[in-house]
Amino acid sequence: MTILEALNWATDHLRDQGIDNPRLDAELMLSHSMHLGREELFLRLRGRVIEEERKTLESLVRRRASGEPLQYMLGHQEFWSIDLKVDPRVLIPRPETEHLVEEALSILVKISSQNIPSVLELGTGSGAIAISLAKEVRNIFIVATDLSEDALMVARENAKRTGVCDRIRFVKGDLLGPFRSGGAFDLILSNPPYLSDSEIRDLSREAKDHEPVMALSGGEDGLAFYRRLVSQAPLYLKEEGWLLLEVGIHQAGHVCGMIEARGHFQKPARIKDLSGIERVMKAQRRE
Ligand SMILES: C[S@@+](CC[C@H](N)C(=O)[O-])C[C@H]1O[C@@H](n2cnc3c(N)ncnc32)[C@H](O)[C@@H]1O
Repeated sequence: MTILEALNWATDHLRDQGIDNPRLDAELMLSHSMHLGREELFLRLRGRVIEEERKTLESLVRRRASGEPLQYMLGHQEFWSIDLKVDPRVLIPRPETEHLVEEALSILVKISSQNIPSVLELGTGSGAIAISLAKEVRNIFIVATDLSEDALMVARENAKRTGVCDRIRFVKGDLLGPFRSGGAFDLILSNPPYLSDSEIRDLSREAKDHEPVMALSGGEDGLAFYRRLVSQAPLYLKEEGWLLLEVGIHQAGHVCGMIEARGHFQKPARIKDLSGIERVMKAQRRE
């Protein structure tokens, strides 16, 4: 079998099973099976695929066709141009979460000109957000938490691989539970679990059957974590510190209402993603 034939076979099989982007997945799986870069495949389309490589490809295609996410099968996902290890212990970081990183950086630029910013990320998962910030800002102190010890193991490994261990402390705990109140942080940010029970029922099989439910479920209406965060965060923020949250589709209005009702913040701002969906909320604590 040639590389071109293998690609066509895998693409057709995945398409028949209703997998999105079958050609791209086929290319990534074959390059993984052959230990070649994707570009190298295109340069060698008539090259042979040996038996062992074919068997590996077949097994990957079978798993992918049954709904396993490609990122878990290949063991990594790019986020903020960083290659992160991912496996079923953590949520696969989504591209829209890069908006949260962008907004955090715009806040940190102002703070870091005066002092070393102290940042708290709640629900770090693979460590994607904390590691991206630590990569971009050299003088920073980040505490990143998760309730899942399994997720923290992946996050620690990613921080080590990325060379930012010295700037992030990982802590196991339930939201703000591990910390004393009293205004220690310049920025608290989170991409919390925010799907409602009905959204979880309607999820793709990739997410429903493979991603950790603890990373997805935001309670019956999806807003449980926002209620807790908005009510507790002011006690842990410095004066004029920032709360920055990723929100799900149609949640911005609700979360904005919670922030305004809390009364401890200035008027919150809503930031849209590239599809025009309000994706990030930011609010500054009053003095
Ligand atoms: C939506 S995922 C976000 C993961 C990662 N920050 C990202 O953006 O890719 C939410 C994370 O919150 C964690 N989590 C769930 N409940 C928590 C709680 N009560 N306290 C702290 N973390 C929690 C989950 O384990 C999961 O890693």
